[in-house]
Amino acid sequence: MASYSIGVLVGSARKGSINQKLANALSKLGGKDFEFRPIKIDDLPMFNQDLEEPAPASVERFRKDIRASDGLMFVTPEYNRSTTPLLLNAISWGSRPYGHNAFTGKPGMIAGASGGVIRTAAAQAHLRDILGVVDVRLIGQPEAYVHFTDDLLAADGTIADETQRTALKKKIDAFIDWVVLVTDGKKEKKAAA
Ligand code: FNR
Repeated sequence: MASYSIGVLVGSARKGSINQKLANALSKLGGKDFEFRPIKIDDLPMFNQDLEEPAPASVERFRKDIRASDGLMFVTPEYNRSTTPLLLNAISWGSRPYGHNAFTGKPGMIAGASGGVIRTAAAQAHLRDILGVVDVRLIGQPEAYVHFTDDLLAADGTIADETQRTALKKKIDAFIDWVVLVTDGKKEKKAAA
């Protein structure tokens, strides 16, 4: 059984999403001690404060998935120089009700892919601000701005391009080190209390 559980949130529910493909490929780079689990966000209703309590079943499940994760990987497309409404909606649900933010203190990382030259840099910068507010502890470097081309992935969904694979593996390794540091630190603190 894997020792650490990483929840994966993807800001596109589109069939054939390049960010979904990137998330799947990144999830394979972690090694056997790290289980990357997709967290479903496309069944959450549009956030409305009137629905906060009692929350819909999909929201309760989503919050539970976030709380059960040792770390969180966010993979975002870029929409109009920002992240997507799908991801923002999920973040709103997870951060509420006031005083019960499910994201508190979770180690996190951001990645994203586009077919254009900006490679989601603007989307990731916005998302970094928002995740800071909800207390996700994001790693800074290395960054993961992926230019998605037809030859990026092999038929089995892994990263075929060696330069990209090496760069992205470094990112995942840095993230994993961070998840281990935070998770084990929390356990030690609990044991000492
Ligand atoms: C886009 N796209 C886009 N691309 C970009 O590089 N910068 C941008 O600001 C935008 N803005 C934008 C807005 C909206 C509403 C859409 C639908 C698309 C293009 C986008 O990167 C492209 O559609 C990706 O393929 C979306 O990611 P998924 O769904 O393939 O993961």
